[in-house]
Amino acid sequence: MTQIIAALDVDTLLKQEELLERLKGTITFYKVGLRLFTAHGKRAIDLVHRYGGEVFLDLKFLDIPQTVAHAVHETQKLGVKSVSLHLWGGPAMIRAAAEIQPRPKLWGVTMLTSMEPGDLRSLHPRASLPTLVKNLARQGISQGIDGIICSGNEVPGLRKMLRGKEASFVCPGIRPVGSSSDDQKRVMTPEKAAELGIHYIVIGRPITGAPDPLKAAQDILTGMKHAAPHSLEAR
Ligand code: C5P
Repeated sequence: MTQIIAALDVDTLLKQEELLERLKGTITFYKVGLRLFTAHGKRAIDLVHRYGGEVFLDLKFLDIPQTVAHAVHETQKLGVKSVSLHLWGGPAMIRAAAEIQPRPKLWGVTMLTSMEPGDLRSLHPRASLPTLVKNLARQGISQGIDGIICSGNEVPGLRKMLRGKEASFVCPGIRPVGSSSDDQKRVMTPEKAAELGIHYIVIGRPITGAPDPLKAAQDILTGMKHAAPHSLEAR
């Protein structure tokens, strides 16, 4: 079952509310990320809740274990469903975050979908992006996270590697055929994501930047339904 998380990457509560008003009844899960949260904090989260939606708070925590654990503790008070951290923080940081109870679901970023293998080679000539993604995912799951944020293209390999382990796959870098990939590099179509049964796809600009965001979301959902009739989350 594949569910869309619409990324509310806007700068005002007014624009956020216009999107929520337009998408209500069609999209129920929203990402509040760095831009909106930095600008408006908890008010942005409360606004989604007022529309009956759920929130993925995508702040990608990366710091020493105690700092991240305290931040995760604070997110519980915001009533969000899930929160992200970078798996680059190492096992102690991930474990400290995972041990906070109760807490939202913890989703770990492997490698940003805006990065490509060449970006890594400039840091290390023999670095392999797919291997890093696998190692980060394995480490995250072994330390207690609930979901892995990666490119859809990496899901089949990760699934094989994590056989038997419970983990949600959360994939940004989703682009309908014909739409611009913007700054995203490791992209996949929504139809392919549905075929693969990816749990959550995070979609921003193809919906929020469309002349008619509702139509864009509906078209994406229709395409997914045709591609994988039994894989869509009922809403
Ligand atoms: O506009 P677009 O569809 O590219 O938005 C993707 C969203 O997913 C953005 O809000 C971005 O911050 C987020 N994201 C990402 N890559 C990750 C994690 C989150 O693009 N690895």
